[in-house]
Amino acid sequence: MSIQKDVKRLTAPDIRARKGGEPIVMLTSYHAHTASLVDKYCDVILVGDSLGMVMHGLETTVPVTLDMMILQGHAVMRGSERALVVVDMPFGSYEASREQAFMSAARVMKETGCGAVKMEGGSRMAETIRFLVERGVPVMGHIGLTPQSINTIGSFRAQGREEADWGPIEQDAIAVAEAGAFSMVIEAVAEPLGARITKSVAIPTIGIGASATCDGQVLVLEDMLGLTARVPKFVKKYGDLGPGIEKAVADYAAEVRSRAFPGPEHVYAMKAKKPS
Ligand code: KIV
Repeated sequence: MSIQKDVKRLTAPDIRARKGGEPIVMLTSYHAHTASLVDKYCDVILVGDSLGMVMHGLETTVPVTLDMMILQGHAVMRGSERALVVVDMPFGSYEASREQAFMSAARVMKETGCGAVKMEGGSRMAETIRFLVERGVPVMGHIGLTPQSINTIGSFRAQGREEADWGPIEQDAIAVAEAGAFSMVIEAVAEPLGARITKSVAIPTIGIGASATCDGQVLVLEDMLGLTARVPKFVKKYGDLGPGIEKAVADYAAEVRSRAFPGPEHVYAMKAKKPS
């Protein structure tokens, strides 16, 4: 017997078909609870390896493991029902060979039930992307600033701010699209370059610090909610939840200390005795 769900989850081909159409809305989520909120409004939920920095307080995404991604990917799948869930492949889980990438991606898909994976890198990852797509793994590319390369690039700096630097970034975009990725994130590039790539590739581009003309946009949820201390220029804060959370915690601590909490409404009375 099969269990039919009322809501049909979006697929990688659905997102691929949105090239040039209604903008694709994407946010990150790492938990079931935020996933259920984000799911109501977004087409794609990214379980980004930014979780290493946002959830775990790491300096970079480099130490994030496949097990960490699988654990949170599973939680996000449980919390959502409509959005396509894309899980990031963490540093060291896919770069060594096409076979390593396939085995890691297959684990992610089997153990989380997600609909696609994302991997950083342009031309250098094209052969791997093709290998995975031919074997049933939908891949979202990620070009421009690729934070997993922090130790070779030196800083989280915007890319392509001089026209002389555009060539390799454009080549990366073309290589990812031609390899069969269903979409690609373009992170922190000069605006005219983001717009030019969006015009020149046949798959949807999802900008983060790229261009308003991209086929979609993505932000890290905690950044746009005002929960992270330092955010890049490309983040617009749609909320300022930090002070609200701090106030709630301070009120709770004060009420526990003064014994105002728990009140009579938060404790259990004895059951009324049955007449004997
Ligand atoms: O890890 C992440 O959250 C990402 C987004 C910034 C695109 O890759």
